[in-house]
Amino acid sequence: MKKTVPTLIVMSLLLAACGKEQPATGPEAGMHQHQADLAAGKAVAEAKCVSCHGLDGKGTGPDIPNLGGQKEAYLHNALEGYRTGTRQHAALQQLSSELTEADVVNIASYYASQKLAGTAAAVGAADTVAAGKTAAAVCVACHGADGNSKMPGTPSLAGQHPGFLLNAMQAYKDGSRKDAAMAGQVAKLDKVAMENIAAFFAAQAPVARDKSTVGDAVAGEPLSGKCGGCHGKQGHSADQKTPSLAGQDAQYLVKTMKNYRDGGRAHAEMKTMLAGAKDQDLAHIAAFYVAQAPKQATATKPTAGQQWAERCGKCHDAATDNPAMVTPRLEGQPVAYLVKALKDYREGKRVQSAMHAMGAPLSDADIQAIGEYYAGQQPK
Ligand code: HEC
Ligand code: HEC
Ligand code: HEC
Ligand code: HEC
Repeated sequence: MKKTVPTLIVMSLLLAACGKEQPATGPEAGMHQHQADLAAGKAVAEAKCVSCHGLDGKGTGPDIPNLGGQKEAYLHNALEGYRTGTRQHAALQQLSSELTEADVVNIASYYASQKLAGTAAAVGAADTVAAGKTAAAVCVACHGADGNSKMPGTPSLAGQHPGFLLNAMQAYKDGSRKDAAMAGQVAKLDKVAMENIAAFFAAQAPVARDKSTVGDAVAGEPLSGKCGGCHGKQGHSADQKTPSLAGQDAQYLVKTMKNYRDGGRAHAEMKTMLAGAKDQDLAHIAAFYVAQAPKQATATKPTAGQQWAERCGKCHDAATDNPAMVTPRLEGQPVAYLVKALKDYREGKRVQSAMHAMGAPLSDADIQAIGEYYAGQQPK
């Protein structure tokens, strides 16, 4: 199944394209119906493409892909994609609509015959956790070197869900969550930096905070019954957007619950949950959660470009050249182009089911790490 479906799609695209000029004679009628003419392809490239793609297929700008050495069928598909609108780019849509089918065949064949070329790229950290550690240098004064804070009233971040940490940072940044200590800390961070920091703290092993000096854990357990559905029975949340509470700082938990109850921290569900709760009960609940051993929220995806590449290589490596899957090579493409392509798939602006499935769970930080990784590889 996996292999035949893409073949059929590709074949029918090619057949449909060929059909414009001459009728296809059967399932065997593919691109080879047109005898590719390299000299004619070169002439079109000289006339229309050279300013951006060079004659050797090397992109002349930071967001222009290299075409040299890509598979002929892939280049053909790409131009067809612009022509039919499954790929959107004003200039390319215009240009490809001016090409005849013979032009497309010739030019795909011409650029495919050029050497696979890499852009000499400055390689960044290409690892979200490593980049996050660097960006988190200013946070450790309060949250602890590994996100295990020793300051009463300050939450530990180690092992927390990255999705929750990101939400919290964004809420401080946009002002929907207010705190004098935190406001200035996140003001200058962009989305990629916040995602990296979240990945770093999430990857650290959490350590239990000091036992609560207020409240009674035994009395807290039954009171926490209605919280377990979201936070986990023992405070180990299974949901990206819901924080784990096990082993968290008691003073912080009490303060936060009062904030939800009294309106100091806005969140509809939490406000409902804690409406009318007595201070003493909140202390008991806090004592219960502090007494639970903290657990790291499981890391479910790669953090480094290199690790992603092991997954992506199944389709994109030269070594796994699968004729049924028409894939481009990624090594040496410009970072900006790779980032744009992956965001286009994620956001459905570029339509391709295999790639959309890969792109959907990628964060901006993942995409940046993958882009930097592939851009730094020399095509072999
Ligand atoms: C004005 C600059 C410009 C010119 C001229 C130009 N291109 Fe492009 N080309 C681009 C950019 C930018 C992209 C990336 C577009 C996107 O994000 O989809 C691109 C993408 C492509 C792709 C897809 C590559 C891939 O890796 O998916 C192909 C194939 C291509 N161009 C072929 C051509 C051909 C053939 C010509 C001449 C007929 C041409 N281009 C002329 C700028 C240009
Ligand atoms: C001056 C001390 C201080 C520094 C420095 C600091 N924080 Fe905080 N942080 C706090 C305090 C106090 C809170 C609890 C605030 C509240 O009640 O909303 C907090 C809360 C948070 C939370 C919410 C956690 C939760 O469980 O709800 C996140 C996420 C966070 N900080 C991230 C960061 C990051 C990232 C940095 C560095 C860029 C940073 N903090 C720097 C003191 C600090
Ligand atoms: C319907 C799901 C749900 C239920 C039930 C629920 N919570 Fe929450 N809780 C959340 C979500 C989601 C957040 C994160 C809210 C935010 O971003 O401010 C949260 C945040 C918290 C926080 C802040 C932790 C931190 O690190 O900042 C505490 C403390 C908390 N809940 C305690 C409780 C208690 C105690 C109960 C039971 C009385 C409870 N929750 C019931 C969903 C729930
Ligand atoms: C199941 C096979 C498959 C897997 C796995 C896969 N891809 Fe792709 N990828 C494709 C196909 C097919 C295309 C061509 C789609 C098109 O024509 O738009 C493509 C296109 C791309 C492009 C566009 C390149 C260009 O020149 O325009 C990028 C970038 C890309 N993939 C990155 C990745 C990354 C990163 C991963 C791993 C996270 C990945 N792919 C995993 C099949 C796959």
